[in-house]
Formats: sequence, structure tokens, C-alpha cells
Amino acid sequence: MRIILMGPPASGKGTQSQILSERYGIPQVSTGDMLRAEITAGSSLGKRAEGVMNSGELVPDSLVLELVDERLSQADAKKGFILDGFPRTVPQAEALGGLLKRRQVPLLAVIALDVPRELLIERATLRRVDKRTGRIYHLKYSLPPPDAELEQRADDREETVTRRLDEYDARTAALLPFYDELGLLYRIDGVGTRQEVTARILRKLEG
Ligand code: AP5
Repeated sequence: MRIILMGPPASGKGTQSQILSERYGIPQVSTGDMLRAEITAGSSLGKRAEGVMNSGELVPDSLVLELVDERLSQADAKKGFILDGFPRTVPQAEALGGLLKRRQVPLLAVIALDVPRELLIERATLRRVDKRTGRIYHLKYSLPPPDAELEQRADDREETVTRRLDEYDARTAALLPFYDELGLLYRIDGVGTRQEVTARILRKLEG
């Protein structure tokens, strides 16, 4: 099972990817998480990505492709994977197509979450992550346990969120017609509880 989960910042890609990953026993491959891990590790790739990410712009395609190619070569991705936040530009989608063709493995579906802009801003600015577990919480919709060690992402301040949303509209939304033409696109209403959104996705994937 090879799935892409796409949608604007804070539309719920990470939340739904974690649920699908557990359900199907396949890894969640999040380029955002991988880039943040590179920053934490202080690698040269992380150093090149950090300023760009904190400004709300997209990291150059070549950096992201390097990470994805290596990640999809690992043993746990043989059975399938959920791509969370990748691809994000048409060149990334074309490169992914080439990579999957070389490995002779097809994509099953591209799930695109639709959420209105005002709600995206609220979801991003009140998001908190437990740094011990990586679990995503929300101060209004998904309250963390009392012992969680919460942190806010550097790019979740409102002015940076606005910039990320603009980047999505300018560069990533073009992937919707790209995958629609390939007959792979399923648009899902991302408004509702996490469970409601999961149920909508599963109806598309499992009929
Ligand atoms: P990335 O980490 O991928 O961020 P993003 O796409 O902006 O998405 P988010 O992680 O913000 O949100 P999400 O959709 O996963 O939502 P979540 O489930 O957390 O990328 C960060 C940066 O890295 C980019 O800006 C770019 O610079 C760089 N980058 C990454 N990939 C790249 C690529 N391929 N190419 C180039 N650059 C790249 O949910 C959000 C909040 O809402 C949470 O608090 C959650 O609890 C809550 N929530 C979720 N679902 C619901 C619900 N149904 N109801 C109520 N609340 C909900």
C-alpha cells in the first residue's frame, strides 16, 4: 500500500498518517519530520534547511529528494508507505514517479485534505508536540496528557503559518490536477473530528 497524504499546512496530514501507519503497519514518511530531525542532529543538510523552514518557504527539491530516496530504500518501506507532505512541487512529483517506476511499485492513492484557511491558522498556532513521543496535540481540539513535554514548532507562529499557506497555494496546489489526471486523487473533507476524517479516508481506501 503506497499512499500520498497531501493538503495545506495543519490540515491534519500528520495526524491521519499516524493513524493509517498503525492500521496498516507501514511507515509514515514525513519530509517535515525528517528535515526537523536533520536540524536537531546539526547535519549540513539540516543547516541548509533550517532558515528556509523557519521563514515558511519550501526547502529546495534536491535536498528533499535525497532524503526521500534514502528513506524509501529502507527495509520497512518495502511493504508500503504513507508519504506525508511529499511531494510538494511538480518536479518532486515527477521525481517520485521516476523513483517508483524504477522500483516497479505503483501508487495506490493520493488523499488530499480540504480545510478552510481560518481553521488551518487555528490548528497550526495552537498545535503542540510532545517532544518525548512525537505525538501531535492541540490546545483546543486534542488536549495533551498532563505529563506531556510540550513544544511549539518554530514555524507555527501566525505570520509564518500565513507564509506557508501562501507557498501551498502557489506551488503545491498544482499537484491536485497533476494527480487527478492520473486518476489517483481523492479529495477528503478535513473538517470534523479526527475520527470522522479517518472514517472518510477509510471509505475511499477500503470501499
Ligand atoms: P511539514 O512538517 O510537512 O508541515 P506542513 O505541511 O506545513 O504540515 P503540518 O505538519 O503543519 O500539518 P499537518 O497537515 O501534518 O497537520 P497536523 O496533523 O499536525 O513541513 C514543514 C516545512 O518543512 C515546510 O514549510 C517546508 O519548509 C519544509 N518541507 C517539508 N516537506 C517539504 C517538501 N516535500 N518540499 C520542500 N519543503 C518541505 O494537525 C495540525 C493541528 O491540528 C494539530 O494540533 C492537530 O492535533 C490538529 N488536528 C488535526 N486533525 C484535526 C481535526 N480533525 N480536528 C481538530 N484538530 C485537528
